[in-house]
Amino acid sequence: MSRSAHPAGPRHADVLPEGHYTAPPADLNALDPKVWAETVTRDDQGVLTVGGIDVRRLAEEFGTPAYVLDETDFRSRARAWRTAFGQDADVFYAGKAFLSRAVVRWLHEEGLNLDVCSGGELATALSAGMPADRIAFHGNNKSVAEIRRAVEAGVGRIVLDSFQEIVRVAHIAQELGKRQRVQIRVTVGVEAHTHEFIATAHEDQKFGIPLAGGQAAEAVRRALRLDGIELIGIHSHIGSQIFDMSGFEVAAHRVVGLLKEIRDEHGVELPEIDLGGGLGIAYTSDDDPREPHEIAKALTEIVTRECESARLRTPRISVEPGRAVVGPTAFTLYEVGTIKPLDHLRTYVSVDGGMSDNIRTALYDAEYSVALVSRSSDAEPMLTRVVGKHCESGDIVVRDAFLPADLAPGDLVAVPATGAYCRSMASNYNHVLRPPVVAVRDGEARAIVRRETEEDLLRLDVG
Ligand code: LLP
Repeated sequence: MSRSAHPAGPRHADVLPEGHYTAPPADLNALDPKVWAETVTRDDQGVLTVGGIDVRRLAEEFGTPAYVLDETDFRSRARAWRTAFGQDADVFYAGKAFLSRAVVRWLHEEGLNLDVCSGGELATALSAGMPADRIAFHGNNKSVAEIRRAVEAGVGRIVLDSFQEIVRVAHIAQELGKRQRVQIRVTVGVEAHTHEFIATAHEDQKFGIPLAGGQAAEAVRRALRLDGIELIGIHSHIGSQIFDMSGFEVAAHRVVGLLKEIRDEHGVELPEIDLGGGLGIAYTSDDDPREPHEIAKALTEIVTRECESARLRTPRISVEPGRAVVGPTAFTLYEVGTIKPLDHLRTYVSVDGGMSDNIRTALYDAEYSVALVSRSSDAEPMLTRVVGKHCESGDIVVRDAFLPADLAPGDLVAVPATGAYCRSMASNYNHVLRPPVVAVRDGEARAIVRRETEEDLLRLDVG
C-alpha cells in the first residue's frame, strides 16, 4: 500500500503523510461484509445494528468499550467448518483466540472439539461441560499439575511438544493407571508469515520437535516404547493468518513422509494427522480469505494424494482454526473522546479503550478498519489515527483510517474483526478495566463475559 495524495483527502492536510492506506473509500457508510459479522447492517437512520439491535442501545446498556459478538455468525462459521470437514475429520476450535463458557457450549452444540493450551483454558472447557474426550491439550511447557489434571479429566489427546514431555506425560499417566492418547508436534521447516511462507532449513523457535536431523523420528521411537502413552498421530502448526495453501502442502508432504518412515521402521500406521490452525481472515477489505469448504477440500486432497504416493492409508485429519471461527464475528464498540487535528499530518481520534483491549496493532502492526456507527454521515473523509487512552504513544487501535470529517466526541465508532486475540490478550495496563463481551442474537443481548470492575482489580491487590 502506498503513499497517496488523493484530492478528497483529510481536511487538515494538503499532502497526505506516509501510511498504510490508499484512497478514501467511495462511501464511508458502506459496510464491507468481508470484515463485518453476518447480521450487521445499518437501519433506516444509518445506525449500525447487529442481531437486530441498535448499537446505541448496546452502548447504553453495557457501556463502552465493549466487544460485541454476533452469536448467529459464530454458530454459522463453526457449523461451516464442521460441515466442510465432514464426519471423517475433526475440527478443534483453538480456544486461545477467545474462550468463555458460552462459547464452549456453542462449540459443543455445533459439534466442534476444543484445543486448549493452559490449565485455565482446560478449566473453562470442563466447567462448561465440554466432554473431556473432545479436548486436545497443547503447550510447550505444560506443568506437571496441568498434565495431571488433563490426564485425570480424560482429555482426548495431549499434544507432546518435547522429549522431556514424552517421558513426563507417560510417567504421570502410568502413575494414574491410565494410558493417555498423544500426538507429537513436529516442526516441518515451514515458517508461515502473514501473507506468505518461507521454507527454513532449521527450526529456530520454541514449539515442537524438528523433523530435521531425525529428531521427530527419535521422539516417535521413544513414545512407542512407553506404556503410559498411546501415540495416535503427528501434529503440525505452521503459523498464523495464512492465506496461501502451499505452506500446508509442504507441511503435509513432510508429515506424511514421517508417517511413512514410522510405518517402514515400526510396522505401525499412525491413524491421525493434525494440520493445526492459522487460516487467515479479512481484517480489512484488502484481505481475501478462503471459505472453509475450499480449505477442507484443499487439505483433504493434499493429504490423500501424499498418502497415496507413500502407499499409506489416509489418516483421520484434524484442524484447529481459532481466528477463522471467532475473528470476524465480533467488533469493538468505542465512544469517541478527544479529537485532535494535527496540521499537515492527520487527525488523532481518541477512543475510550486502546492497547489494553486490542494489543494486536501495537504488537504485530496489525491492520484494522473502523466506521462511525451511531449515525451515518455525508461529510468529507478525513484521515485519522484511532488511538486509545493509555499512557503510551504506541497505543494505536487503527493506524490509518478515513472517518467522516464531522466526527464528534460522543459518537460511537466500531472496529470490526476483533473477535480473535483481542479479549483473550487484553490487559489491565494503566489499571484500565477490561471490556465485556456482549453476545447478541435475534434481538437479544447478554454479557457472556462481564465488564471488569474496580472491585475486581482491588480484589487481587492484597497488600
Ligand atoms: N493450533 C495451534 C497449535 C496454535 O498454536 C494456534 C495459534 C492455533 C491452532 C490457532 O491459530 P489461528 O487459527 O487462530 O490462527 N496472538 C496471535 C496469534 C497467535 C496464535 C498462536 N497459536 C494473533 O493475535 O494473531
